[in-house]
Amino acid sequence: MAFGDSLKFLGKYIKNPRFTGAVWPSSRFLARKMAKFSAYRKGSVVVELGPGTGPVTKALLEAGVEPENLCSIEFDPALAANLKERFPGVRVVNDSAENLSAILGDDVSRVGAIVSSLPLLSLPKACVEEILRQVESVLPAGGRFVQFTYNVNKDPKAYGFGRMRHVGAAVVVLNVPPARVDAFEKM
Ligand SMILES: C[S@@+](CC[C@H](N)C(=O)[O-])C[C@H]1O[C@@H](n2cnc3c(N)ncnc32)[C@H](O)[C@@H]1O
Repeated sequence: MAFGDSLKFLGKYIKNPRFTGAVWPSSRFLARKMAKFSAYRKGSVVVELGPGTGPVTKALLEAGVEPENLCSIEFDPALAANLKERFPGVRVVNDSAENLSAILGDDVSRVGAIVSSLPLLSLPKACVEEILRQVESVLPAGGRFVQFTYNVNKDPKAYGFGRMRHVGAAVVVLNVPPARVDAFEKM
C-alpha cells in the first residue's frame, strides 16, 4: 500500500478514533492470517466487515475467494469508493455492518465466513451487540467468524455468542500495533 494511503488512514483515526479503531492500516501478515483463518470453501460467500483501505480484501482474493463471492461492508463513504475502484468485481457496500442480514438478502444461504476488522472495543456497545447478534445468526453450522483484536479475552461469551466456539488464535507481531487474530466457529 502507498505511504500516502497510510497517512490518509492516520488522518481518519485522528478525526474519528472510535470508528477507525487503529492508527495504521493492517499489515499484509495480519491480513493473510485473517484470510487463512476464514477456511474459505469454494463457492461460498465471504463477508468482510470494516475493510478500510483493503489489505484484508486483497488477502482474501489472493487466498482464492472469487471476487463475486466477496461482500465487503464499509461505513466510510470515501473508503468504500476507493475499494470499489481498487477491487472491481467485489461487492462493496457503503453501509453499516448493523444491516448485515438485510445487505445479504438471498445470499445469506451461501455465507461461509465473516471476516471482521471492525473496532469492536471502541464502537458504541449497542452497535457492537447488534452486529455480533447478526453475525451469529447468519452463519451456518461450521461457518467461521474471524476478528482481529487487541483484547485479551477469547471467550465467545465475551462477544455475546451462545452458539460459537473459539477454534484458533494467532498473535501477529508484524503489525502496528501487534494484534491477535481470533477464529470462532458456529456449532
Ligand atoms: C480498524 S479499521 C480497518 C482496518 C483495515 N484492516 C485497514 O487496514 O484499512 C476499521 C474500519 O471499520 C469501519 N467501520 C467502523 N464502523 C463500521 C460499521 N458499523 N460498519 C462497517 N464498517 C465500519 C471503519 O470505517 C474502518 O474503515
